[in-house]
Amino acid sequence: MNHTSPRIRVFQAFKELHGHSPEHLVCAPGRVNLIGEHTDYNDGYVLPLALDRAIWIALSSLSEPEVRLHSLDFDQEASVFLDQPLMKEEGWKEYLKGMIEISNASGLELFGWKGVMAGDVPIGAGLSSSAAMELALGRAFGVVGNWKWNPTQMARISQRAENEWVGMNCGIMDQMVSASGRKGHAMFLDCQSLEATDVPVPDAVRVVILDTNTRRGLVDSAYNERRSQCESAARYFGVTVLRDVSMEQLNQSEAMLDPLEFRRARHVITENCRVLDCVKALRSGNLDRVGKLMKESHISLRDDFEVSSEALDLIAECAYKAPGCYGARMTGAGFGGCAVALVDVSCIEEFVEQVLKDYAETSERNGLLYVCSPSDGASVFSVENC
Ligand code: GLA
Repeated sequence: MNHTSPRIRVFQAFKELHGHSPEHLVCAPGRVNLIGEHTDYNDGYVLPLALDRAIWIALSSLSEPEVRLHSLDFDQEASVFLDQPLMKEEGWKEYLKGMIEISNASGLELFGWKGVMAGDVPIGAGLSSSAAMELALGRAFGVVGNWKWNPTQMARISQRAENEWVGMNCGIMDQMVSASGRKGHAMFLDCQSLEATDVPVPDAVRVVILDTNTRRGLVDSAYNERRSQCESAARYFGVTVLRDVSMEQLNQSEAMLDPLEFRRARHVITENCRVLDCVKALRSGNLDRVGKLMKESHISLRDDFEVSSEALDLIAECAYKAPGCYGARMTGAGFGGCAVALVDVSCIEEFVEQVLKDYAETSERNGLLYVCSPSDGASVFSVENC
């Protein structure tokens, strides 16, 4: 990955490509989820935060109804006409087409622009580079079309673009936090009402991302399969989402339910309780409790939901043993990618050093660790400050 900030890279590349400065700079962050995994599409609770890593676009309006977007990371150019039918293909350009299609269908007025895009959210690591791209594109269309920015509406449009155009049946968590995360805070989100509350991340801790350096193929199909198993379990109780099933109801029906669906449902129902508990513990500064809930979440994802992997289990174990760790767990869809740990601020350096060493020795792979600062959601910046 290029280490110059993507903000500088897109600005300079735009000037080189077009011979003048861009009119606007927009960005949208990736995310890491502290707790509440595979609960969003069950209308449950989640507690993600927006990362200080984002996708950036430098852009200027065009008078023609066309988007010409150069991606520095893929070293490719997309050209999409806003007044012509779009064809589905594969690759990063589908996010642009999906956003155009669904924004149009939602009655938003789209105007043309030319831009350069780049980011520092690792791709395919479970840190939502796709939601970051969708929201950055939403911001780009918004600034060119002079829209009143409505983060929840744009999160919904982005989720639909991913569900209906790209074919990944994701929930709303990634898009909501990329649209409206807040600096220094995690976002406690009720995925049924979409009511979001900011929860301060205490100064005494740091959120550390532990990248296993493993990427799995076929994540989308395994993810979509988990989602249908949850829907099927909910149908047994005569409801559409597991949010509306209690642990008591589930236990009473254990003998009648398919054992696999029982375990999937048990993860979702207990995970929702853990999120509520975790928000309380974070607010009262009970970090030991937060850590314990993170560990329980990992075990539930590993054993009941079966979305962890050997590398994720291993890196979480390395974190538990390292100095200052309150808790750790896999984060995001799973099957590879990243875990997240909550670490005492006074031990950060020793923690990072020990986890990297321990993970390299036990897995024979080099992990990557990022100490992250919770950041603001999708934003527009003045070009003068660049
Ligand atoms: C992916 C999806 C989210 C969410 C997580 C699992 O990141 O995009 O909607 O379901 O997996 O919690």
